[in-house]
Amino acid sequence: MTTFVFPTAATQIEKPVANQRATHALAVDEGVASAVRAGLSSEPKRLPPWLFYDAAGSRLFDEITDRPEYYLTRTERGILRAHADAMVARAADGARLRITELGAGSADKTRLLLKAAVARQGTVVYEPVDVSASALDAARERIEREIDGVAVAPRVMDYTHGNGRGLELTPTETGERRLVLYIGSSIGNFDPPEAMRLLHRVRAGLRPGDGLLLGVDLVKDEATLLAAYDDVAGVTAHFNLNMLARLNRELEAEFNLENFEHRAVWNRAESRVEMHLESRIAQKVQIAAVDLEVSFAESETIHTENSYKYRAGQAEAMLAEAGFAAAGSWTDERGWFVVCLGRAE
Ligand code: AVI
Repeated sequence: MTTFVFPTAATQIEKPVANQRATHALAVDEGVASAVRAGLSSEPKRLPPWLFYDAAGSRLFDEITDRPEYYLTRTERGILRAHADAMVARAADGARLRITELGAGSADKTRLLLKAAVARQGTVVYEPVDVSASALDAARERIEREIDGVAVAPRVMDYTHGNGRGLELTPTETGERRLVLYIGSSIGNFDPPEAMRLLHRVRAGLRPGDGLLLGVDLVKDEATLLAAYDDVAGVTAHFNLNMLARLNRELEAEFNLENFEHRAVWNRAESRVEMHLESRIAQKVQIAAVDLEVSFAESETIHTENSYKYRAGQAEAMLAEAGFAAAGSWTDERGWFVVCLGRAE
């Protein structure tokens, strides 16, 4: 299984026991509980996207990436397949590369870059960074089994929260440059100020000459965008509804999934695809473990995700603002997705 792990999701799943309390004989994760209390008491209602990624949600996300409508993964993979050697050579700029990935590895896409690095320099150190130790173990096992010449050095860390501090990474050796990968359009799930904070944080953890490879989804026609977030097989709908199923499992909530419908909306003004769960009827739902009763009007929605889509040149501008000089930009023939390399100044 090749799962995307949304940065804070696994923190919640793997919170130490001290952060959990038993209610009705159920171990309740305080992170999940407080997100649900805050989100479902707010107006409009919202739930954070990291709640998608329990084991079932991670499997569903994996399935989404294989759907014909979800062009993102395929398109980025095509760009990497065509240009991994050039990306690695440009990032190395004559030095040895060490590759650090934010997230526990995007499987076949990461593999293309690691193979290019091994072909160029014989061996490579690969440092996946994630909050989930189990996701990192799986990444290490997979990569070491599949690619000779890669030494995996996992790092358990929540790279999204730093209170203004830079990423704390092991120092590179003399003659070595670090290339940070943040691919898969993951940056698109943050609103623009959060995305900028994250880029600044990455920059603050790097040395001049190190690189950041950023994969960003671009604005395209509305029908294509909406289909990607509402596939005909209903996998994305299932993924979205799984959030309520998760609350039923973990918080003794009583959501009847039949009473909610998946909605994908293109918000042109904000340049983002939004996902919502719309209540088909006026209803009240009990969530026992957090002692909450939530009232829904008919057609009222819970906003579960934003997926920002950028215009050509915007990702490069964000990198520049965060202190990275443009070192390369690769796109597909339709101009649907871009992978940009920034060099820390
Ligand atoms: C993980 N992330 C980049 C995906 C996206 O496209 O925003 C999550 C996703 N949501 C619905 N489909 C996929």
